[in-house]
Amino acid sequence: MADITSRRDFLKQVSGAALAAGAAPSMLAWALPLQGQAVDVPGEDGMILRSFRFVDLESPVEYFNTWLTPVPHFFVRNHMHEPSELSAEDWRLTVGGEVEKSLTLTLAELSKLETHSVVNTLECAGNGRSLHRPQVPGIQWGKGGVSTARFSGPRLRDVLQRAALKSAGKHVMFRGLDEVPGKVPPFIRSIPIEKALDSDTLIATHMNGAPLTKHHGFPARALVPGWVGAASCKWLTEIKVLETEFAGNFMNPGYRFPNQPGKPGEPVKPEDTHPLTSLNVKSVISGPSDGGSVKAGALHVHGAAWAGEADIVKVEVSTDDGATWNPAKLGHEQAHYAWRLWSFDWKGKAGDYSVQSRATDSQGRTQPQTAVWNPSGYLYNAIDQVKIHVA
Ligand code: MTE
Repeated sequence: MADITSRRDFLKQVSGAALAAGAAPSMLAWALPLQGQAVDVPGEDGMILRSFRFVDLESPVEYFNTWLTPVPHFFVRNHMHEPSELSAEDWRLTVGGEVEKSLTLTLAELSKLETHSVVNTLECAGNGRSLHRPQVPGIQWGKGGVSTARFSGPRLRDVLQRAALKSAGKHVMFRGLDEVPGKVPPFIRSIPIEKALDSDTLIATHMNGAPLTKHHGFPARALVPGWVGAASCKWLTEIKVLETEFAGNFMNPGYRFPNQPGKPGEPVKPEDTHPLTSLNVKSVISGPSDGGSVKAGALHVHGAAWAGEADIVKVEVSTDDGATWNPAKLGHEQAHYAWRLWSFDWKGKAGDYSVQSRATDSQGRTQPQTAVWNPSGYLYNAIDQVKIHVA
């Protein structure tokens, strides 16, 4: 089923024939009442629909104006159908593999463990894919496959310690309760033991102080802060400690990046790639809107910047197509894995402008002019740009 770019397109497509032509049942459940009406996807006000076979919702960049993203504005990325039945009472989390004592935990048991909170900017590895040149196949994310929330729950390491890790355990695998259609490989991935034992890696049960919603992994998800969103498995039901990295589609060939930048458009050999881990340094302009027209005078350019496991140290703004750069003001709210909001005030005279933003992080990385092209279109992080008309 084709990807679509806006709610309007979606509504056009769900009317009549498109529905009759065999849309997936989980989509029908919420699409049917919407036929021909301008109604939002429940709980997801104003989101851009990138795929309706499996629910993929992008945040419009104009929503990047609060440090914590309200949950209904938090992007959603699903590789398969969300579980149709989830019950807090029946849910179980098993912990096995290279441990001395296998565990089965109920949600009530999990909730008794000490809770820790981490404000994390979660970004899909494919965010910005549509901007790579040459273009690559896959969900054509614009700039909004990224959002920030306060995630809370027990530390993964506390659960692993209860199960008593064996020294042979070097990787931790997560399996969710997604409903896997047909012969599609299940969404199973693993992270190295060092990241699993990090004091900020969680089994999150809450987001912005409320229990996780279904779209975001109710009742519990892994939260691997600073890493690509794919590491943070939703609807978590199984944790398995392994001697080696999990071998499956979503570890290889999925979610891998070339060891060396290659020529754009050329294939990369699997042995010349590594699994994606931390996010890139990146900034996005959330206003003024691209293609918009604003009145001459005091102009306020603003946006968000993040850098995975590193911290943002500087954001610069150019109003002359990158010829000169000015420091932006960084917002007060900050946390290690969270984006920084930023702003730049400028007196704009009538004319057409290319306004750009460029972030630098604590590892000395600066957003490049052009992102590293790769066959799957991951980690797009070129200097951001909006074109505006000042009248
Ligand atoms: N976990 C499961 N079980 N199934 C999935 O499809 N998608 C992953 C990750 N966890 C996914 C998953 C990807 S690719 C991303 S970017 C994040 O969840 C998105 O999390 P969100 O939908 O809460 O924003």
